[in-house]
Amino acid sequence: MAELAGAPDGALNIGSVCADRHVRLGRGAATAISWLGRRQERRDITYGELAEQSGRIARVLAGQGLEPGETVAVLLGRIPELYGAALGIWKAGGVYCPLFAAFGPGPIKARLELGKAAILITSDELYARKVASSRAALPHLRQVLLVGEDGAIAVLPQGCADLRALVAAAQPMEAVPTTPDAPAFLHFTSGTTGTPKGVLHPHRAVLAHLVTGRKVFGLTEADVFWCTADPGWVTSTSYGIIAPLVCGAALVADEAELEPRRWYGILHDEKVTAWYTTPTAIRTMMRYGAALARSYRENSLRVAASVGEPLNAEAVMWGQKALGVPFLDTWWQTETGAITIANGPGTDRRPGSMGRPLPGVEAVIMRCEAGTPKQVDGIDVVGELAIRTCWPSMFSGALGEETRYGDCFRDGWYFTGDLVKRDKDGFIWFVGRADDMIKCGGLQIGPFEVEGSLMDHPAVAEIGVVGKPDMLVREVPVAFVSLNPGFEAGDALRAELISYARQELGAGMAPREIHFVEELPKTNSGKIMRRVLKAKAMGEPDGGDILSTLPPCPGRYDDE
Ligand code: WT7
Repeated sequence: MAELAGAPDGALNIGSVCADRHVRLGRGAATAISWLGRRQERRDITYGELAEQSGRIARVLAGQGLEPGETVAVLLGRIPELYGAALGIWKAGGVYCPLFAAFGPGPIKARLELGKAAILITSDELYARKVASSRAALPHLRQVLLVGEDGAIAVLPQGCADLRALVAAAQPMEAVPTTPDAPAFLHFTSGTTGTPKGVLHPHRAVLAHLVTGRKVFGLTEADVFWCTADPGWVTSTSYGIIAPLVCGAALVADEAELEPRRWYGILHDEKVTAWYTTPTAIRTMMRYGAALARSYRENSLRVAASVGEPLNAEAVMWGQKALGVPFLDTWWQTETGAITIANGPGTDRRPGSMGRPLPGVEAVIMRCEAGTPKQVDGIDVVGELAIRTCWPSMFSGALGEETRYGDCFRDGWYFTGDLVKRDKDGFIWFVGRADDMIKCGGLQIGPFEVEGSLMDHPAVAEIGVVGKPDMLVREVPVAFVSLNPGFEAGDALRAELISYARQELGAGMAPREIHFVEELPKTNSGKIMRRVLKAKAMGEPDGGDILSTLPPCPGRYDDE
């Protein structure tokens, strides 16, 4: 904490430790952000410029009457203002609440309402399409600050101001002295069922970003770090903004949608040293083939890592070969705020597993006995992953839902809602979400185990497995599969995949049905929406808010 504290009274402000601190240490001229535009534009922003820009934005927000602790929602793509806005909001003492630009007007309105956003920063184009129609129904929203998509804003809509014009006229402001416990950022979790949960993190979370930036990615001021996450996802806040900046590295911000050819180009041209992406990205690269990867084999990479979904061993091995560097899996959640379990760094890795808890993280596996969760020590025993609550980036609240927040904790443990098992060397293996488990006769089937096995078949590009209700055995596993190029959907392949699964997994665990699909339904953060697949398997429309998650509940995983 001492390394980061900016003021003698113990104040800690993410905005100032990510920018002003580097300027104070004489690194104002170092590159903080290399921004790559959709139309091949580029802009390099130094730490000095970032400190000044965020100070100006903080002044603008304070000038709009923003009180410390109030929420500022941000609905922007990866444009330079996104970074100045996040840091500026922190410096002004506000709570940064990014939203997915891919959301429609409904989910945006719901989150502005739930988060009681006082100010919204967005683009003129997104405002017109996604917010204007609900503005009258959002009494908390006092001001909207617009960034012109194409430079100047021709006609300012009523009740909006031009952010760039205000920033140009503002004097930079010093960060307000926030305490480590003051709320700093708010995300709505994007799982598969239930109503959205507003997950709140305090300024102290930055300690976990500093530690994991250094320990997992080995970040120093010499690094170029690229995190591909969408700004609406906590991964972007924690690793697309905070971790590289607090470590003094340069971050790459690419405005474009992800596309393998462009990725390889960026990794190469920007001399990226550490890359943080998703299993979907690496599997997409696999689809594009090894020849393309080989043509970019010369790169500056030191390490690559993925998060968000289980990373199968085949993808790890492929990634390592294609990129020529260690490829780590990392596990965490919106609620833990930063990486808590990682495969590596160093030589200590086990492809296919999530890895082991980071130093300082105490993680155990719990099973319920007569309604009381108990730690299990056995090898390969499936239970719910629980974490001691002292990790600095652990969430500090579920917005306006005391009970829902309290429900996640018991006896000083936070219950993650993920089912895992541990091998003899302490590596943790993902089994599934507690709410995704398939109960088939006497068997508990983890969808990921079935998915992982079929992923090894050359025809399978992606797969989602869900339980379909069955009169006899309660549920049977059924699979939705998208195919690699060169394979044809049809009865012959269906029979082949089923027999392959029976051989690999045994008849009890093998899917009873295989449905071929072009693409699997995914959340904006890239998670397979098993609930949608389940509805499909049952022949129902998917309906409902598909972008929220079930609250974790201690001991929900019971033997029954
Ligand atoms: C859930 C959390 C991760 C940060 C961003 C957001 C799943 C995450 C892994 C992994 C298997 C993983 C879990 C977790 N998950 N990382 N390495 N292997 N599953 O996360 O939207 O809050 O989702 O993502 O189920 O609980 P989130």
